[in-house]
Amino acid sequence: MAVAALGQVQTLAGTLLRAYVGERLVLDFRARLVEQVQRLSASYHDSRGTADSVYRIQQDAAAIQNIMVEGIIPFVAAAITLVTMIAVTARLDWQLALVALVISPPLFFVSRIYRPRMRSESRHAKRLESAALAVVQETLGALRVVKAFGQEARETDRFVRRSREGVAARVGLASLEGHYGLCVGLTTAIGMAGVLFIGVRHVRSGALTLGQLLIVMGYLAQLYQPLKTISRKTSSRQFYLASAERAFALLDERPDVPERSHARSIGRAAGAVAFRHVSFAYNPDHPVLHDVSFEVPPGARVAIAGPTGAGKTTLVGLLIRFYDPIAGGILLDGVDLRDYRLADLRNQFAIVLQEPVLFSTSIAENIAYGRPGANELDIVRAAAAAGAHDFVVRLPRGYATPVGERGMQLSGGERQRIALARAFLKDAPLLILDEPTSSVDVKTEAAILDAMDRLMQGRTAFVITHRTSALATCDMRLQLEGGRLVEMAPSLTCQEP
Ligand SMILES: Nc1ncnc2c1ncn2[C@@H]1O[C@H](COP(=O)(O)OP(=O)(O)O)[C@@H](O)[C@H]1O
Ligand SMILES: [Mg+2]
Repeated sequence: MAVAALGQVQTLAGTLLRAYVGERLVLDFRARLVEQVQRLSASYHDSRGTADSVYRIQQDAAAIQNIMVEGIIPFVAAAITLVTMIAVTARLDWQLALVALVISPPLFFVSRIYRPRMRSESRHAKRLESAALAVVQETLGALRVVKAFGQEARETDRFVRRSREGVAARVGLASLEGHYGLCVGLTTAIGMAGVLFIGVRHVRSGALTLGQLLIVMGYLAQLYQPLKTISRKTSSRQFYLASAERAFALLDERPDVPERSHARSIGRAAGAVAFRHVSFAYNPDHPVLHDVSFEVPPGARVAIAGPTGAGKTTLVGLLIRFYDPIAGGILLDGVDLRDYRLADLRNQFAIVLQEPVLFSTSIAENIAYGRPGANELDIVRAAAAAGAHDFVVRLPRGYATPVGERGMQLSGGERQRIALARAFLKDAPLLILDEPTSSVDVKTEAAILDAMDRLMQGRTAFVITHRTSALATCDMRLQLEGGRLVEMAPSLTCQEP
Protein backbone atom coordinates (compact mmCIF):
# COMPACT_ATOMS: atom_id res chain seq x y z
CA MET A 1 0.00 0.00 0.00
CA ALA A 2 2.72 2.43 1.05
CA VAL A 3 4.80 1.70 -2.04
CA ALA A 4 1.77 2.14 -4.29
CA ALA A 5 0.86 5.42 -2.58
CA LEU A 6 4.41 6.73 -2.92
CA GLY A 7 4.45 5.69 -6.56
CA GLN A 8 1.22 7.58 -7.24
CA VAL A 9 2.51 10.69 -5.46
CA GLN A 10 5.64 10.55 -7.57
CA THR A 11 3.58 10.25 -10.77
CA LEU A 12 1.42 13.16 -9.71
CA ALA A 13 4.41 15.34 -8.88
CA GLY A 14 6.05 14.36 -12.15
CA THR A 15 2.97 15.28 -14.17
CA LEU A 16 2.56 18.65 -12.47
CA LEU A 17 6.23 19.52 -12.73
CA ARG A 18 6.32 18.56 -16.39
CA ALA A 19 3.26 20.63 -17.14
CA TYR A 20 4.60 23.63 -15.22
CA VAL A 21 8.07 23.56 -16.75
CA GLY A 22 6.71 22.96 -20.25
CA GLU A 23 4.13 25.73 -20.07
CA ARG A 24 6.57 28.25 -18.61
CA LEU A 25 9.06 27.40 -21.32
CA VAL A 26 6.47 27.98 -24.03
CA LEU A 27 5.20 31.18 -22.45
CA ASP A 28 8.68 32.71 -22.32
CA PHE A 29 9.33 31.65 -25.88
CA ARG A 30 6.03 33.08 -27.08
CA ALA A 31 6.65 36.35 -25.28
CA ARG A 32 9.95 36.69 -27.11
CA LEU A 33 8.24 35.96 -30.41
CA VAL A 34 5.51 38.53 -29.79
CA GLU A 35 8.19 41.10 -28.95
CA GLN A 36 10.02 40.16 -32.13
CA VAL A 37 7.02 40.45 -34.49
CA GLN A 38 6.43 43.95 -33.20
CA ARG A 39 10.06 44.83 -33.78
CA LEU A 40 9.94 43.66 -37.39
CA SER A 41 9.14 46.36 -39.89
CA ALA A 42 5.76 47.03 -41.45
CA SER A 43 7.07 45.88 -44.83
CA TYR A 44 7.95 42.45 -43.42
CA HIS A 45 4.33 41.92 -42.38
CA ASP A 46 3.01 43.51 -45.57
CA SER A 47 4.84 40.92 -47.62
CA ARG A 48 4.56 37.80 -45.43
CA GLY A 49 1.06 38.29 -44.09
CA THR A 50 0.27 38.36 -40.39
CA ALA A 51 -1.42 34.93 -40.25
CA ASP A 52 1.91 33.20 -40.72
CA SER A 53 3.35 35.00 -37.68
CA VAL A 54 0.24 34.12 -35.67
CA TYR A 55 0.63 30.46 -36.62
CA ARG A 56 4.29 30.48 -35.65
CA ILE A 57 3.56 32.03 -32.27
CA GLN A 58 0.49 29.98 -31.42
CA GLN A 59 1.21 26.58 -33.01
CA ASP A 60 4.88 26.30 -33.72
CA ALA A 61 6.24 27.74 -30.49
CA ALA A 62 4.46 25.04 -28.48
CA ALA A 63 6.70 22.47 -30.14
CA ILE A 64 9.67 23.27 -27.93
CA GLN A 65 7.66 21.90 -25.02
CA ASN A 66 7.27 18.60 -26.85
CA ILE A 67 10.90 18.52 -27.85
CA MET A 68 12.15 19.18 -24.34
CA VAL A 69 9.60 17.35 -22.21
CA GLU A 70 8.34 14.58 -24.46
CA GLY A 71 11.27 14.21 -26.82
CA ILE A 72 14.48 14.47 -24.84
CA ILE A 73 13.46 12.99 -21.48
CA PRO A 74 11.98 9.70 -22.82
CA PHE A 75 14.93 9.53 -25.20
CA VAL A 76 17.38 9.67 -22.30
CA ALA A 77 15.31 7.14 -20.31
CA ALA A 78 15.23 4.76 -23.28
CA ALA A 79 18.98 5.15 -23.81
CA ILE A 80 19.67 4.24 -20.15
CA THR A 81 17.38 1.18 -20.35
CA LEU A 82 19.13 0.12 -23.55
CA VAL A 83 22.61 0.25 -22.02
CA THR A 84 21.47 -1.68 -18.93
CA MET A 85 19.82 -4.38 -21.01
CA ILE A 86 22.91 -4.78 -23.18
CA ALA A 87 25.07 -5.19 -20.07
CA VAL A 88 22.76 -7.85 -18.60
CA THR A 89 22.53 -9.82 -21.85
CA ALA A 90 26.29 -9.66 -22.38
CA ARG A 91 26.89 -11.20 -18.93
CA LEU A 92 24.67 -14.15 -19.82
CA ASP A 93 26.05 -14.75 -23.32
CA TRP A 94 28.23 -12.14 -25.00
CA GLN A 95 27.87 -13.74 -28.43
CA LEU A 96 24.11 -13.44 -28.26
CA ALA A 97 24.40 -9.81 -27.13
CA LEU A 98 26.58 -9.13 -30.14
CA VAL A 99 24.11 -10.81 -32.50
CA ALA A 100 21.29 -8.81 -30.93
CA LEU A 101 23.18 -5.57 -31.51
CA VAL A 102 24.04 -6.32 -35.14
CA ILE A 103 20.73 -4.73 -36.08
CA SER A 104 21.79 -1.33 -34.71
CA PRO A 105 23.67 -0.16 -37.84
CA PRO A 106 20.75 -1.01 -40.17
CA LEU A 107 18.36 0.74 -37.77
CA PHE A 108 20.57 3.79 -37.77
CA PHE A 109 20.74 3.67 -41.55
CA VAL A 110 16.95 3.41 -41.92
CA SER A 111 16.42 6.42 -39.68
CA ARG A 112 19.06 8.35 -41.64
CA ILE A 113 17.01 7.79 -44.78
CA TYR A 114 13.61 8.62 -43.32
CA ARG A 115 14.45 11.53 -41.01
CA PRO A 116 15.09 14.23 -43.64
CA ARG A 117 12.06 13.16 -45.66
CA MET A 118 9.83 13.39 -42.59
CA ARG A 119 11.29 16.77 -41.74
CA SER A 120 10.67 18.24 -45.17
CA GLU A 121 7.16 16.77 -45.33
CA SER A 122 6.44 18.31 -41.90
CA ARG A 123 7.66 21.69 -43.12
CA HIS A 124 5.43 21.41 -46.15
CA ALA A 125 2.40 20.55 -44.00
CA LYS A 126 3.07 23.51 -41.70
CA ARG A 127 3.33 25.89 -44.61
CA LEU A 128 0.01 24.75 -46.02
CA GLU A 129 -1.73 24.92 -42.67
CA SER A 130 -0.56 28.46 -42.05
CA ALA A 131 -1.78 29.39 -45.55
CA ALA A 132 -5.23 28.00 -44.68
CA LEU A 133 -5.22 30.09 -41.50
CA ALA A 134 -4.39 33.15 -43.60
CA VAL A 135 -7.60 32.64 -45.55
CA VAL A 136 -9.67 32.63 -42.35
CA GLN A 137 -7.94 35.71 -41.05
CA GLU A 138 -8.40 37.60 -44.27
CA THR A 139 -12.06 36.61 -44.53
CA LEU A 140 -12.86 37.69 -40.99
CA GLY A 141 -10.88 40.91 -41.40
CA ALA A 142 -12.95 41.84 -44.45
CA LEU A 143 -16.21 40.21 -43.41
CA ARG A 144 -18.30 43.18 -44.49
CA VAL A 145 -16.92 43.03 -48.02
CA VAL A 146 -17.37 39.25 -48.16
CA LYS A 147 -21.00 39.52 -47.05
CA ALA A 148 -21.79 42.50 -49.25
CA PHE A 149 -20.56 40.66 -52.33
CA GLY A 150 -22.12 37.39 -51.20
CA GLN A 151 -18.84 35.51 -51.43
CA GLU A 152 -19.12 33.38 -48.26
CA ALA A 153 -19.23 30.12 -50.22
CA ARG A 154 -16.19 31.10 -52.23
CA GLU A 155 -14.18 31.94 -49.12
CA THR A 156 -15.19 28.63 -47.52
CA ASP A 157 -14.15 26.91 -50.70
CA ARG A 158 -10.81 28.70 -50.72
CA PHE A 159 -10.25 27.59 -47.12
CA VAL A 160 -11.24 23.98 -47.86
CA ARG A 161 -8.98 23.86 -50.89
CA ARG A 162 -5.95 25.11 -48.97
CA SER A 163 -6.77 22.83 -46.04
CA ARG A 164 -7.16 19.84 -48.32
CA GLU A 165 -3.59 20.31 -49.50
CA GLY A 166 -2.60 20.38 -45.82
CA VAL A 167 -4.51 17.15 -45.25
CA ALA A 168 -2.67 15.51 -48.15
CA ALA A 169 0.64 16.56 -46.65
CA ARG A 170 -0.34 15.19 -43.23
CA VAL A 171 -1.43 11.88 -44.77
CA GLY A 172 1.86 11.74 -46.68
CA LEU A 173 3.66 12.25 -43.39
CA ALA A 174 1.66 9.49 -41.72
CA SER A 175 2.47 7.15 -44.60
CA LEU A 176 6.18 7.93 -44.20
CA GLU A 177 5.84 7.18 -40.50
CA GLY A 178 4.11 3.89 -41.29
CA HIS A 179 6.80 2.79 -43.72
CA TYR A 180 9.48 3.76 -41.28
CA GLY A 181 7.75 1.80 -38.47
CA LEU A 182 7.56 -1.20 -40.81
CA CYS A 183 11.30 -1.05 -41.51
CA VAL A 184 12.08 -0.75 -37.80
CA GLY A 185 9.76 -3.66 -36.93
CA LEU A 186 11.22 -5.91 -39.63
CA THR A 187 14.79 -5.09 -38.64
CA THR A 188 14.17 -5.97 -34.99
CA ALA A 189 12.36 -9.15 -36.06
CA ILE A 190 15.45 -10.14 -38.03
CA GLY A 191 17.57 -9.51 -34.93
CA MET A 192 15.19 -11.62 -32.85
CA ALA A 193 15.34 -14.51 -35.37
CA GLY A 194 19.14 -14.33 -35.45
CA VAL A 195 19.36 -14.59 -31.66
CA LEU A 196 16.90 -17.49 -31.64
CA PHE A 197 18.80 -19.29 -34.36
CA ILE A 198 22.21 -19.00 -32.64
CA GLY A 199 20.71 -19.49 -29.17
CA VAL A 200 19.12 -22.80 -30.16
CA ARG A 201 22.48 -24.02 -31.50
CA HIS A 202 24.17 -23.00 -28.27
CA VAL A 203 21.54 -24.92 -26.29
CA ARG A 204 22.09 -27.98 -28.48
CA SER A 205 25.84 -27.82 -28.00
CA GLY A 206 25.29 -27.43 -24.25
CA ALA A 207 26.89 -23.97 -23.96
CA LEU A 208 23.58 -22.50 -22.77
CA THR A 209 20.67 -24.03 -20.85
CA LEU A 210 17.16 -23.73 -22.20
CA GLY A 211 16.22 -21.59 -19.19
CA GLN A 212 19.08 -19.15 -19.93
CA LEU A 213 17.97 -18.87 -23.56
CA LEU A 214 14.44 -18.06 -22.42
CA ILE A 215 15.83 -15.36 -20.11
CA VAL A 216 17.88 -13.91 -22.98
CA MET A 217 14.81 -13.86 -25.21
CA GLY A 218 12.90 -12.08 -22.46
CA TYR A 219 15.62 -9.50 -22.08
CA LEU A 220 15.86 -9.11 -25.81
CA ALA A 221 12.22 -8.06 -25.99
CA GLN A 222 13.03 -5.44 -23.39
CA LEU A 223 16.20 -4.45 -25.21
CA TYR A 224 14.36 -3.82 -28.45
CA GLN A 225 11.61 -1.94 -26.71
CA PRO A 226 13.71 1.21 -26.07
CA LEU A 227 15.13 0.93 -29.59
CA LYS A 228 11.60 0.95 -30.96
CA THR A 229 10.65 3.82 -28.65
CA ILE A 230 13.58 5.88 -29.86
CA SER A 231 12.66 5.18 -33.47
CA ARG A 232 8.98 5.86 -32.97
CA LYS A 233 9.84 9.19 -31.36
CA THR A 234 11.90 10.04 -34.42
CA SER A 235 8.86 10.79 -36.54
CA SER A 236 7.03 13.01 -34.05
CA ARG A 237 10.34 14.67 -33.22
CA GLN A 238 10.82 15.59 -36.86
CA PHE A 239 7.42 17.22 -36.84
CA TYR A 240 8.17 19.20 -33.71
CA LEU A 241 11.63 20.09 -34.97
CA ALA A 242 10.08 21.48 -38.14
CA SER A 243 7.84 23.62 -35.94
CA ALA A 244 10.68 24.78 -33.72
CA GLU A 245 12.68 25.61 -36.83
CA ARG A 246 9.88 27.92 -38.04
CA ALA A 247 9.55 29.61 -34.67
CA PHE A 248 13.29 30.18 -34.41
CA ALA A 249 13.41 31.43 -38.00
CA LEU A 250 10.95 34.13 -36.99
CA LEU A 251 13.11 34.97 -33.99
CA ASP A 252 16.21 35.14 -36.18
CA GLU A 253 14.57 37.44 -38.71
CA ARG A 254 16.58 40.64 -38.63
CA PRO A 255 14.49 43.78 -38.35
CA ASP A 256 15.12 45.86 -41.49
CA VAL A 257 14.70 49.02 -39.44
CA PRO A 258 17.51 48.30 -36.96
CA GLU A 259 18.56 50.46 -34.04
CA ARG A 260 22.24 51.37 -33.93
CA SER A 261 24.18 50.17 -30.92
CA HIS A 262 25.05 53.64 -29.62
CA ALA A 263 21.90 55.39 -30.74
CA ARG A 264 21.25 58.92 -29.46
CA SER A 265 18.38 59.69 -27.19
CA ILE A 266 16.26 62.82 -27.57
CA GLY A 267 14.02 64.51 -25.06
CA ARG A 268 11.93 66.80 -27.21
CA ALA A 269 12.96 67.62 -30.77
CA ALA A 270 12.80 71.19 -32.08
CA GLY A 271 11.18 69.85 -35.24
CA ALA A 272 13.48 70.76 -38.17
CA VAL A 273 13.18 68.12 -40.88
CA ALA A 274 15.31 67.67 -43.98
CA PHE A 275 15.06 65.08 -46.76
CA ARG A 276 18.34 64.66 -48.66
CA HIS A 277 18.06 62.85 -52.01
CA VAL A 278 15.73 60.25 -50.56
CA SER A 279 14.74 57.29 -52.73
CA PHE A 280 12.61 54.40 -51.65
CA ALA A 281 11.12 51.18 -53.05
CA TYR A 282 8.98 48.51 -51.40
CA ASN A 283 10.39 46.00 -53.83
CA PRO A 284 13.44 46.62 -55.99
CA ASP A 285 11.72 46.57 -59.39
CA HIS A 286 9.09 49.13 -58.45
CA PRO A 287 10.59 52.37 -57.05
CA VAL A 288 8.11 54.57 -55.17
CA LEU A 289 10.11 57.71 -54.30
CA HIS A 290 12.89 59.21 -56.44
CA ASP A 291 15.49 61.62 -55.17
CA VAL A 292 13.23 63.68 -52.90
CA SER A 293 14.91 66.64 -51.20
CA PHE A 294 13.39 69.44 -49.11
CA GLU A 295 13.86 71.27 -45.84
CA VAL A 296 11.31 72.21 -43.25
CA PRO A 297 12.07 74.69 -40.45
CA PRO A 298 10.81 73.97 -36.91
CA GLY A 299 7.14 74.74 -36.40
CA ALA A 300 6.27 74.93 -40.10
CA ARG A 301 3.06 73.56 -41.54
CA VAL A 302 3.70 71.45 -44.60
CA ALA A 303 0.93 70.39 -46.92
CA ILE A 304 1.66 67.36 -49.08
CA ALA A 305 -0.48 67.07 -52.17
CA GLY A 306 -0.53 64.84 -55.20
CA PRO A 307 -2.61 62.17 -56.91
CA THR A 308 -3.37 58.82 -55.30
CA GLY A 309 -0.39 56.50 -55.42
CA ALA A 310 2.10 59.35 -55.71
CA GLY A 311 3.89 58.21 -52.57
CA LYS A 312 2.54 60.62 -49.95
CA THR A 313 1.78 58.01 -47.30
CA THR A 314 5.12 56.39 -48.03
CA LEU A 315 6.91 59.70 -47.52
CA VAL A 316 5.52 60.23 -44.03
CA GLY A 317 6.06 56.55 -43.25
CA LEU A 318 9.75 57.11 -43.88
CA LEU A 319 9.70 60.03 -41.50
CA ILE A 320 8.81 57.89 -38.50
CA ARG A 321 10.88 54.98 -39.75
CA PHE A 322 8.20 52.46 -40.63
CA TYR A 323 10.72 51.90 -43.41
CA ASP A 324 14.22 53.17 -44.14
CA PRO A 325 15.12 54.88 -47.44
CA ILE A 326 17.21 52.86 -49.87
CA ALA A 327 19.25 55.94 -50.80
CA GLY A 328 19.76 59.34 -49.23
CA GLY A 329 18.95 60.31 -45.69
CA ILE A 330 16.38 62.06 -43.54
CA LEU A 331 17.47 64.45 -40.81
CA LEU A 332 15.61 65.54 -37.72
CA ASP A 333 17.23 68.54 -36.05
CA GLY A 334 20.28 67.95 -38.25
CA VAL A 335 20.80 64.32 -37.20
CA ASP A 336 20.05 61.29 -39.36
CA LEU A 337 16.95 59.46 -38.15
CA ARG A 338 18.89 56.20 -38.05
CA ASP A 339 21.14 57.64 -35.34
CA TYR A 340 18.28 58.12 -32.89
CA ARG A 341 16.89 55.52 -30.59
CA LEU A 342 13.75 54.19 -32.26
CA ALA A 343 11.47 54.60 -29.26
CA ASP A 344 12.67 58.18 -28.72
CA LEU A 345 12.27 59.03 -32.38
CA ARG A 346 8.70 57.74 -32.59
CA ASN A 347 7.90 59.55 -29.38
CA GLN A 348 8.47 62.81 -31.26
CA PHE A 349 5.53 62.17 -33.55
CA ALA A 350 1.80 62.17 -33.15
CA ILE A 351 0.21 60.57 -36.14
CA VAL A 352 -3.30 60.28 -37.50
CA LEU A 353 -3.31 57.56 -40.13
CA GLN A 354 -5.29 57.50 -43.33
CA GLU A 355 -7.47 54.72 -41.89
CA PRO A 356 -7.63 55.46 -38.18
CA VAL A 357 -7.33 52.29 -36.13
CA LEU A 358 -8.81 51.99 -32.66
CA PHE A 359 -8.39 49.17 -30.16
CA SER A 360 -11.23 47.16 -28.71
CA THR A 361 -11.29 49.02 -25.40
CA SER A 362 -13.15 52.09 -24.18
CA ILE A 363 -13.04 55.50 -25.87
CA ALA A 364 -11.08 56.93 -22.94
CA GLU A 365 -8.40 54.26 -23.17
CA ASN A 366 -8.19 54.77 -26.92
CA ILE A 367 -7.60 58.48 -26.49
CA ALA A 368 -4.99 57.85 -23.80
CA TYR A 369 -3.20 55.26 -25.96
CA GLY A 370 -0.07 57.37 -26.40
CA ARG A 371 -0.03 58.44 -22.73
CA PRO A 372 -1.41 55.59 -20.64
CA GLY A 373 -1.25 57.50 -17.34
CA ALA A 374 -3.29 60.48 -18.53
CA ASN A 375 -5.99 61.70 -16.13
CA GLU A 376 -9.64 62.12 -17.00
CA LEU A 377 -9.48 65.89 -17.35
CA ASP A 378 -6.70 65.68 -19.93
CA ILE A 379 -8.64 63.08 -21.88
CA VAL A 380 -11.80 65.21 -21.93
CA ARG A 381 -9.79 68.28 -22.90
CA ALA A 382 -8.15 66.42 -25.79
CA ALA A 383 -11.51 65.09 -26.93
CA ALA A 384 -13.02 68.58 -26.81
CA ALA A 385 -10.14 70.00 -28.81
CA ALA A 386 -10.60 67.29 -31.42
CA GLY A 387 -14.34 67.97 -31.62
CA ALA A 388 -15.14 64.53 -30.21
CA HIS A 389 -16.48 65.50 -26.80
CA ASP A 390 -19.99 66.33 -28.01
CA PHE A 391 -20.72 62.99 -29.61
CA VAL A 392 -18.95 61.03 -26.88
CA VAL A 393 -21.12 62.41 -24.07
CA ARG A 394 -24.23 61.54 -26.08
CA LEU A 395 -23.19 57.87 -26.10
CA PRO A 396 -24.93 55.71 -23.44
CA ARG A 397 -21.77 55.09 -21.46
CA GLY A 398 -19.84 58.21 -22.43
CA TYR A 399 -16.08 57.81 -22.31
CA ALA A 400 -16.42 54.24 -21.02
CA THR A 401 -18.21 53.13 -24.21
CA PRO A 402 -16.41 50.19 -25.82
CA VAL A 403 -15.67 50.81 -29.49
CA GLY A 404 -15.58 47.20 -30.71
CA GLU A 405 -12.82 45.51 -32.63
CA ARG A 406 -10.78 48.08 -34.56
CA GLY A 407 -13.38 50.67 -33.52
CA MET A 408 -16.01 49.25 -35.84
CA GLN A 409 -18.86 50.35 -33.56
CA LEU A 410 -18.15 53.98 -34.42
CA SER A 411 -18.63 55.80 -37.69
CA GLY A 412 -15.66 56.73 -39.87
CA GLY A 413 -15.80 60.40 -38.85
CA GLU A 414 -16.09 59.49 -35.17
CA ARG A 415 -13.08 57.22 -35.39
CA GLN A 416 -11.22 60.01 -37.14
CA ARG A 417 -11.93 62.43 -34.30
CA ILE A 418 -10.95 59.90 -31.61
CA ALA A 419 -7.68 59.45 -33.49
CA LEU A 420 -7.20 63.23 -33.54
CA ALA A 421 -7.86 63.39 -29.78
CA ARG A 422 -5.23 60.69 -29.32
CA ALA A 423 -2.77 62.86 -31.25
CA PHE A 424 -3.76 65.90 -29.16
CA LEU A 425 -3.12 64.10 -25.90
CA LYS A 426 0.27 62.84 -26.99
CA ASP A 427 1.45 66.43 -27.32
CA ALA A 428 4.40 65.59 -29.57
CA PRO A 429 6.57 68.22 -31.30
CA LEU A 430 5.89 66.78 -34.77
CA LEU A 431 2.54 65.92 -36.21
CA ILE A 432 1.53 63.81 -39.19
CA LEU A 433 -2.00 63.87 -40.54
CA ASP A 434 -2.69 61.54 -43.46
CA GLU A 435 -5.87 62.67 -45.23
CA PRO A 436 -7.68 63.21 -41.95
CA THR A 437 -10.83 64.51 -43.60
CA SER A 438 -11.10 62.02 -46.43
CA SER A 439 -14.00 60.05 -44.96
CA VAL A 440 -16.22 62.75 -43.47
CA ASP A 441 -18.96 65.14 -44.57
CA VAL A 442 -18.41 68.86 -45.09
CA LYS A 443 -19.67 69.90 -41.67
CA THR A 444 -17.58 67.34 -39.83
CA GLU A 445 -14.67 68.32 -42.00
CA ALA A 446 -14.99 71.92 -40.88
CA ALA A 447 -14.94 70.77 -37.24
CA ILE A 448 -11.93 68.56 -37.86
CA LEU A 449 -10.07 71.29 -39.74
CA ASP A 450 -10.73 73.59 -36.86
CA ALA A 451 -9.38 70.97 -34.44
CA MET A 452 -6.40 70.35 -36.71
CA ASP A 453 -5.62 74.00 -36.76
CA ARG A 454 -5.37 74.06 -32.98
CA LEU A 455 -3.44 70.80 -32.95
CA MET A 456 -0.83 72.15 -35.36
CA GLN A 457 -0.02 75.23 -33.28
CA GLY A 458 3.64 75.33 -32.34
CA ARG A 459 4.42 72.00 -34.00
CA THR A 460 6.02 70.93 -37.23
CA ALA A 461 3.07 69.46 -39.05
CA PHE A 462 2.79 67.38 -42.21
CA VAL A 463 -0.71 67.29 -43.62
CA ILE A 464 -1.59 65.11 -46.56
CA THR A 465 -4.77 66.37 -48.11
CA HIS A 466 -6.71 66.95 -51.30
CA ARG A 467 -8.97 69.59 -49.79
CA THR A 468 -7.99 73.14 -50.61
CA SER A 469 -9.64 74.31 -47.40
CA ALA A 470 -7.11 72.33 -45.41
CA LEU A 471 -4.28 73.99 -47.30
CA ALA A 472 -5.35 77.51 -46.41
CA THR A 473 -3.06 77.97 -43.46
CA CYS A 474 0.06 76.05 -44.42
CA ASP A 475 3.57 77.49 -44.72
CA MET A 476 4.78 75.26 -47.49
CA ARG A 477 3.37 72.90 -50.08
CA LEU A 478 5.01 69.81 -51.53
CA GLN A 479 3.53 68.47 -54.73
CA LEU A 480 4.34 64.82 -55.41
CA GLU A 481 3.74 63.10 -58.69
CA GLY A 482 4.83 59.57 -59.51
CA GLY A 483 7.22 59.60 -56.57
CA ARG A 484 8.95 62.81 -57.60
CA LEU A 485 8.78 66.17 -55.92
CA VAL A 486 7.52 68.29 -58.80
CA GLU A 487 6.83 71.48 -56.93
CA MET A 488 7.85 73.02 -53.66
CA ALA A 489 5.87 76.18 -53.03
CA PRO A 490 6.50 78.60 -50.17
CA SER A 491 3.75 80.12 -48.06
CA LEU A 492 2.12 82.60 -50.40
CA THR A 493 1.29 80.12 -53.12
CA CYS A 494 0.20 77.52 -50.67
CA GLN A 495 -3.27 77.28 -52.07
CA GLU A 496 -3.79 75.13 -55.10
CA PRO A 497 -3.60 77.31 -58.21
N1 LIG B 1 3.20 48.06 -48.45
C1 LIG B 1 3.41 48.25 -49.74
N2 LIG B 1 4.07 47.32 -50.46
C2 LIG B 1 4.31 47.53 -51.78
N3 LIG B 1 3.95 48.63 -52.46
C3 LIG B 1 3.30 49.57 -51.81
C4 LIG B 1 2.99 49.45 -50.41
N4 LIG B 1 2.33 50.56 -50.01
C5 LIG B 1 2.24 51.34 -51.11
N5 LIG B 1 2.80 50.77 -52.18
C6 LIG B 1 2.91 51.37 -53.52
O1 LIG B 1 3.59 52.59 -53.37
C7 LIG B 1 3.00 53.60 -54.15
C8 LIG B 1 2.70 54.82 -53.29
O2 LIG B 1 1.76 54.50 -52.32
P1 LIG B 1 1.28 55.54 -51.21
O3 LIG B 1 2.48 56.15 -50.59
O4 LIG B 1 0.34 54.83 -50.30
O5 LIG B 1 0.49 56.59 -52.09
P2 LIG B 1 -0.42 57.81 -51.65
O6 LIG B 1 0.25 59.01 -52.27
O7 LIG B 1 -1.75 57.58 -52.28
O8 LIG B 1 -0.48 57.87 -50.17
C9 LIG B 1 1.77 53.00 -54.78
O9 LIG B 1 2.07 52.80 -56.14
C10 LIG B 1 1.57 51.67 -54.10
O10 LIG B 1 1.24 50.71 -55.07
MG1 LIG C 1 -2.04 57.61 -48.86
